[in-house]
Parts: sequence; C-alpha cells; structure tokens
Amino acid sequence: NAAAAGAIAVVVANNVDGKLSGVTLGQPGVIPTGGVSKADGTTLFGLAGQTATVDMRFHEDIKTARNVIAQTKTGRKDNVVMAGSHLDSVEAGPGINDNGSGSASLLETALQLGSKPKVGNAVRFAWWGAEELGLVGSTEYVRALTFEQQLDIALYLNFDMVASPNAAYFVYDGDDSDATGAGAGPYGSAQIEKAFVDYLTTAKSVQTEGTDFTGRSDYGEFINVGIPAGGLFTGAEGIKTPAQAAKWGGTAGVAYDKCYHQACDNLGNLDRVALDRNGDAIAWVTASYAISTED
Ligand code: PHE
Ligand code: ZN
Ligand code: ZN
Ligand code: ZN
Repeated sequence: NAAAAGAIAVVVANNVDGKLSGVTLGQPGVIPTGGVSKADGTTLFGLAGQTATVDMRFHEDIKTARNVIAQTKTGRKDNVVMAGSHLDSVEAGPGINDNGSGSASLLETALQLGSKPKVGNAVRFAWWGAEELGLVGSTEYVRALTFEQQLDIALYLNFDMVASPNAAYFVYDGDDSDATGAGAGPYGSAQIEKAFVDYLTTAKSVQTEGTDFTGRSDYGEFINVGIPAGGLFTGAEGIKTPAQAAKWGGTAGVAYDKCYHQACDNLGNLDRVALDRNGDAIAWVTASYAISTED
C-alpha cells in the first residue's frame, strides 16, 4: 500500500475533462473504495485506499477535428484530381507559413476555378484537420474510402509550407528511389514532379530542387495506397546552403523557416514572392490536371 509506505502516488488523469468525482484535483487524498468515478459513470483508477494526487499537468481533452472537402460539380468523377493542405497549426503559434500559406493558396485556386469549370476531371479540394497530431485527418480520410473510391482518385497534390521566409523551391521528388521514412515505399509521381518543375522554371524562372517523400505531410496515406502524389515545399527547420542562397537569394546558414512551429510564425513570417510564385504554380498544375491527366 503506497500510503503505508508514506509515498504519494501521482495519478495521471487522462481525458477526464475536469469531471472527476471522489478526489480533489491537484490535492493529495485517499482514493475511495471503488476508485475514482468519471462524470460518464466509468471508473478511472483501481487504486482504492492509496493516497494520490491527481496531476492535471497531463490532462488531455478528446476533441473533434474535421476535414473540409469540396469538389467541382463538373468533370469525371472516376478520374478525380485531388489537392490538399492542412488547415491546423501547432498550438505554439498561429501557423501562417505552416500552413496558412498552403491552405490559402489552395482556397484561392478553388475560388478562381469555381464550382462548374469546363474541365475533363472533377477537382476535389481538401483542407485537412489534425495534421500536426500525426497526419490524422488525411490518413482517416484515405482509410475511410472504399478501394473503388481510392481508384477514382487519379492523383493527389500536397501543399504544406509554400512561403517559408528563407524559401527553398522544393518539388516532391517523384522519381527518387532513395526516399526513407513512413512515406517511402510506392513513391510519388515523376510526371507530377515534372509539371511543377516545368512551370516554375519556364513561367517563373526559378530553379527547383527535389525533396524526398519523407512521410512528414498529408500525401503519406495517398502514396501508401498507391495514389500518385506530388507537391511543393519551401522548407522547414532545414538550413539553407550557400549554393541555395546563390540560386534563390535569402540567407545561407539560416533555417528555411526560423519560426517553424513557433509563436513567430505570424504574418511577418512569409516570403511573399515565394507565395506568389508557388500560388501560381498550384493553380496552374491543378488546372492542367483538371483539363487532362494524359501526358
Ligand atoms: N508536415 C510538416 C509540418 O506540418 C512540415 C513538413 C512538410 C516537413 C514537408 C517536411 C516535409 O510541420
Ligand atoms: Zn507543422
Ligand atoms: Zn505543415
Ligand atoms: Zn525527381
């Protein structure tokens, strides 16, 4: 018995939402016979007779997150062009580059396209929830689809951080067989990579670099089930090299986004030139695939 030994057990109270009865939260007390009851009638612990402090430092809530999905009324529904950006941010900051930049760019593409564009393929936009909690929204979305519904998605385009303040111009590397991590396996698409590279090179005179599918963003479950994917990324905690600074401007030896996952990821934390170029590339490539997914 912990009380007899003079010890104070610290009970981690998960998902209790402040509705415990039978103990006073934050104060040592003897756990009553039958444990501690939650408001929903279930019993949380079975440490009756022990002295315990219910420690609310580890309090967690169960919350509901949502994906926002919108699809054009026109275009083939069995060859859908899908594009997504996560709408959530980390708690530490407002998430303007990560990922207001991607989700706002995608929203503008959707608004400009309209609900009834003259396109060959339907376009389905996704603003994902709970990406920062482990790609939860996009993963649940793909897993909830039937195999037939997965087959109806021709490709997936991902936009997560597209205006980093010390921007790199990365295109997901669709022909890289060295990719590692959760997203490795079936890789992305060399054709999608080429579409972004061609646009940024010719229309914006920007030299791009490939970036591996590391499994760190919402394309992960799409490529896991064999849906070709691609997209843009301007860098997170990685450090810009001198060669990259010579090519793109910005500061060598400094992170692409020095405010990554911090409170300072605010409206000042954007490269607006990168936002403009990548916003145009997002619109161009999405619309091109809406017209046709043939080479
Ligand atoms: N998904 C990461 C985030 O939201 C950002 C990221 C994207 C990192 C792509 C690496 C590659 O924090
Ligand atoms: Zn993030
Ligand atoms: Zn992100
Ligand atoms: Zn490549």
